[in-house]
Amino acid sequence: MAPAKILLQLDGDAQPSVFDSVVAVDSGVDQLFRHGSVEAEQVAGLVHGLLFTRKPDDLRYSAVFVGGSNVSQGEALFKAVKKAFFGPFAVSVLLDPNGSNTTSAAAVHLAGKHVDLENAKALVLGGTGPVGQRVARLLAGSGAEVRIGSRSLDRANVTCEAISKQVSSGNLVPISNAESSDLAAALEGVQIVVAAGAAGVQLLSEEERKQAKDLVVAIDLNAVPPLGLEGVDMQDKAKLRDGAACYGALGVGGTKMKIHRTALEKLFEQNNQIFDAEEMLDLAKKLEE
Ligand SMILES: NC(=O)c1ccc[n+]([C@@H]2O[C@H](COP(=O)([O-])OP(=O)(O)OC[C@H]3O[C@@H](n4cnc5c(N)ncnc54)[C@H](OP(=O)(O)O)[C@@H]3O)[C@@H](O)[C@H]2O)c1
Repeated sequence: MAPAKILLQLDGDAQPSVFDSVVAVDSGVDQLFRHGSVEAEQVAGLVHGLLFTRKPDDLRYSAVFVGGSNVSQGEALFKAVKKAFFGPFAVSVLLDPNGSNTTSAAAVHLAGKHVDLENAKALVLGGTGPVGQRVARLLAGSGAEVRIGSRSLDRANVTCEAISKQVSSGNLVPISNAESSDLAAALEGVQIVVAAGAAGVQLLSEEERKQAKDLVVAIDLNAVPPLGLEGVDMQDKAKLRDGAACYGALGVGGTKMKIHRTALEKLFEQNNQIFDAEEMLDLAKKLEE
């Protein structure tokens, strides 16, 4: 009989995410070890508990999920998990703090259904946040020219520089979206718009969206009214509006959940897989919609 599938859920928040736990159980995890308030220096001890208890051939039945609401804290835990491995002693790991990787992979995958990403021009509004940065990274990694919108050109610049160091393709351009006139210029020639601004913040009015003549796909990740893209319904899923296929946050949500569940299932196929945003995008491309 195969050993039980054990998932070590590491979360920087005091209470590990119930959402992530439910998805894990629904994805076939037999035993979930939930740890909250985890700090990077505690990770090696926790991970070694997985590595030293099963023979190498059975390590694929143990895996780690890193979540939490704070994305940079999650990244630090993720780094510490990978550092705890040595030689053949490793388990597969999935990183999805605050749903940032599954959400960005879903958004970019859906955009790619309408536009050839390699030759696309995209605008990511709210592109300085953890989700927007990942959307921009995945788009640039797919070869697109990506304009990163922020209320502050300096912040957009810093984000572009940081992402440029992480990808070898694409082209990153900082944009200020403080004024409507800035937005009109930023939208010129753009086929993809992704609104990744904070919850409850409108970033593009319906009028501004209608002016974007080259727009093919518009994706809003904000599910809290007012929505990020005015006139796009949160339930929209490839709904044609003013010539562009539109997606609302709930329209993206189905794909996001599918990526999350499939990545969790795949964790237990081998003991050496890493699921960060790029791997989740690859996985999304293989999923049947
Ligand atoms: N469906 C899902 O499962 C899921 C999962 C995760 C996130 N989300 C959604 O995805 C979106 C992005 O998430 P996030 O965590 O990356 O967001 P975030 O960090 O809260 O905000 C993203 C960016 O929005 C801009 N912003 C903040 N307040 C603003 C304001 N009042 N006016 C204009 N711009 C403002 C900021 O950029 P500047 O300061 O540089 O302008 C910020 O970097 C959110 O709407 C979130 O709810 C959905």
